[in-house]
Amino acid sequence: MANRRSFIIHSFIGALAAGLGCRYGYATHVLAPGMSLPALPAELPVIISTWNHGLAANEAAWQSLLHGGKALDAAEQGVMVSEADPEVNSVGYGGLPDASGKVTLDACIMDSKGNAGSVACLENILHPVSVARKVMENTPHVMLTGAGALQFALDQGFEQTDLLTDAARKAWENWKASGARYAPQANWENHDTIGLLVLDTEASLAGACTTSGMAFKHPGRVGDSPVIGAGLFVDNAVGAATATGEGEVVLKTLGSFLVVELMRQGHSPAKACEEAVRRLATATSVHKQMQVGYIALSKTGETGAFALRPGFQCAVRSAKGSVLLDVPSLFQD
Ligand code: GLY
Repeated sequence: MANRRSFIIHSFIGALAAGLGCRYGYATHVLAPGMSLPALPAELPVIISTWNHGLAANEAAWQSLLHGGKALDAAEQGVMVSEADPEVNSVGYGGLPDASGKVTLDACIMDSKGNAGSVACLENILHPVSVARKVMENTPHVMLTGAGALQFALDQGFEQTDLLTDAARKAWENWKASGARYAPQANWENHDTIGLLVLDTEASLAGACTTSGMAFKHPGRVGDSPVIGAGLFVDNAVGAATATGEGEVVLKTLGSFLVVELMRQGHSPAKACEEAVRRLATATSVHKQMQVGYIALSKTGETGAFALRPGFQCAVRSAKGSVLLDVPSLFQD
C-alpha cells in the first residue's frame, strides 16, 4: 500500500501539465516504474492560519487559488475575511480599540521573492492588508505608519470606514468604567492576530498577517504583526512563519524570522516553532497571562505550530480537507 501510494501523486500542477483540463480538482498520476518522484510535495496547495477564525480565512484563500490566484493573492484574500468580520474582535472591523477608543490596525504581507509591505497604526481602513500590499507594490518602502499610511491608502483609492462597532465601543466603555488598567489577556476569546501562510500550486510561498493589536493598548503602540521578521517571514527557499499573541516578546526575539532560520538549519516546522517559543521563554520575561503562538509551513508543504500556553489553535487547509488543530504548548496552564 505504502509503495503503491508512493507512486501516486496528487498534483494540480501535474493536472495542468497532463492537459487534463481539470482546472479546479486534483488529478491522479501514476509514475512509470523506475521514475523518481518529483521534488514537489505530494499535495499542493497547503494553507495554514492562526486560530479558529482561520477556518473561514483558509477557505477564502483556497477559493482564490482555485480561481487562479497565486500564493500572494490567496494570503491577502484569506485574511481579508477576518478583517471584515465584526465578530473577530482582534482584527479589522470590530477590532477592540486602543485606550483612547480608536481602532488602529497593523498588517503586513510578504511574497515568494522577498518583497514585503506593511502598515502600522492605520485607522479607518477596512483592509489594512491590501494597503500593505500596495506599499509593497507601489512604493520603494516596506512600512508606512499612522497618518502617512492613511494618506497613502486614500491616494491609492481606499475608502474610509468607521471600524468601531457597537460591541467594541461597549467593551471599551466597560473597560474604562472598570478602572482603565491595561492588562494583556491570553487567548482572548480564542481570537487574536490572524496570520496565514500559503504554498501554492507552483510551490511558491506567501504570507499575510493582520490585527487590531492588543485591546485597549496605549495609543501609538505597534506590535509584532506589521514588522517583517517578527509577525511574519517568508523565505521561498525554506519556508514561512507567522506569529500571534503578545507581540512585545515576539518583537524582542524576531520570532518569525527565527522560526524560518531554524527550519533552514534542518528543523521541521513544528520543532522550529517549539524552539522559537523556548527561546522566547528564556530570553524574555513571560507572565501568566501571556500567550504566543507560532505557525510554520515548509517549502515542501509540511506544517507545524507551537504555543507558550494551551488554548492556541491553528487551521490547516489542503486537498485532504479543512481541520482545526489544538496546538501543543510549553506550559500546561
Ligand atoms: N500579535 C499582535 C499584537 O501583539 O499586536
